[in-house]
Amino acid sequence: AAGYSVASTAAPAAPGDLQQPVDVSPGVANTQVTVSHPYGTDTIAFYGPRQAGVDTPQQAHAIYIGLNLKDDTDADRLSSMMRLLTDDAARLTQGRGALADLDEELAAAPARLTVTFGFGSEVFDRTRPELKPAWLKPLPTYGIDQLDPAYTGGDVVIQIQGDDPLSVAHARRMLLKDARAFATVAWVQSGFTHARASRPDNTTMRNLFGQIDGTGNPEPGSERAERIIWGVGQGDGGGTKNLQPWIDNGTSMVIRRIAMNVDEWDELDRPAQEGVVGRTLGSGAPLTGEHEHDAPDFEALGPSGFPVISDISHIRRARSDDPDEAMFRRSFNYDEQPAASGDTLHGQTGVSQSGLIFVAFQCDVEQQYTPIQDRLAETDHLNLWTIPIGSAVFAVPPGCQPDGYIGEALFA
Ligand code: HEM
Repeated sequence: AAGYSVASTAAPAAPGDLQQPVDVSPGVANTQVTVSHPYGTDTIAFYGPRQAGVDTPQQAHAIYIGLNLKDDTDADRLSSMMRLLTDDAARLTQGRGALADLDEELAAAPARLTVTFGFGSEVFDRTRPELKPAWLKPLPTYGIDQLDPAYTGGDVVIQIQGDDPLSVAHARRMLLKDARAFATVAWVQSGFTHARASRPDNTTMRNLFGQIDGTGNPEPGSERAERIIWGVGQGDGGGTKNLQPWIDNGTSMVIRRIAMNVDEWDELDRPAQEGVVGRTLGSGAPLTGEHEHDAPDFEALGPSGFPVISDISHIRRARSDDPDEAMFRRSFNYDEQPAASGDTLHGQTGVSQSGLIFVAFQCDVEQQYTPIQDRLAETDHLNLWTIPIGSAVFAVPPGCQPDGYIGEALFA
């Protein structure tokens, strides 16, 4: 299996420099954070069997760019585009300027910058349609959806993630400069989680409802994650499905933009908010447990004879009996300007325009993602406060070596 490596070239800080322990969140264990060195020069390897930015450690900032191919971007031109973009990504993620980069100082502190590419159906139609995965198509239409074309579809996605919003912005500009001869921008979405070092690394993030979000994910590198994300190790996952990767070391990416009505959510008291998901807000423990990673007990009954974790709670509905109906979620929060006073935007009229750029990676969309989404669209208590407003599905090709480029198999 492909691993990832994080390299830090930073010299340790001088004693006393930046080394202030900060108690960031009372109520959460292990919150003493000591910032001992600047993280700007940390890098995540670009070259390798798999693309970075899928199950490598999650950074603080992300930009997703959906591109539509121009009519004259045929297979040859597409291959030129991917060579150029691969070269840019390889340089920028390692702290070097892109080719002809006039502002290479902006690339000097990549702060774990990663660039990940995904292909929509059109890329296969213009190159090798026989390699198109069967699941590469829009998700079914759901009654809960209010999809906005401004966040839906796209022929190519570029996912840029990093801990420094400045190097993320620079990468975005460099990549778009090289893409513009071949494609137009369909949409851009920017998101964030906690700043790096605001809490210990690997702490599960919180979304803008205050929930700890990502607990149920398979642990990157574990057998389960290898199977769920990359289709490795048939038969050892205890599931019933035959999870074949569409191409070795490739995966799929579903991006759903989901508006979260924070203002109406605020009207619920804490126990009601916890009941909607089935987990506590403080530690993220299931309502039947004490610690974040305790297994939920869906059979446990409360004093009134009703299940402690409601049958319509988000975690009950999202959990399948088949362990292969699972995904790896790597979401980012968004928080845009609120609607003008009196206007309604995506169900939100108050002081917020917030939500989740919900991103899920799995080997096979139809076998793993869609059954869960079907179930949640049918019944999920959380739906009262959330509206999906964007949707896109991409195939994520494998990584490449220094003499190759991302997507090369489609041009062979
Ligand atoms: C679990 C929030 C949308 C799939 C959770 C948890 C929270 C949460 C707080 C519990 C902690 C955890 O395991 O991460 C949200 C919010 C959403 C949203 C705020 C929308 C704004 C979705 C969607 C899907 C999904 C669209 C998939 C179609 C899951 C899964 C779990 C989960 C699979 C783990 C369930 C388990 O414990 O087995 N979500 N979620 N969620 N969510 Fe969501």
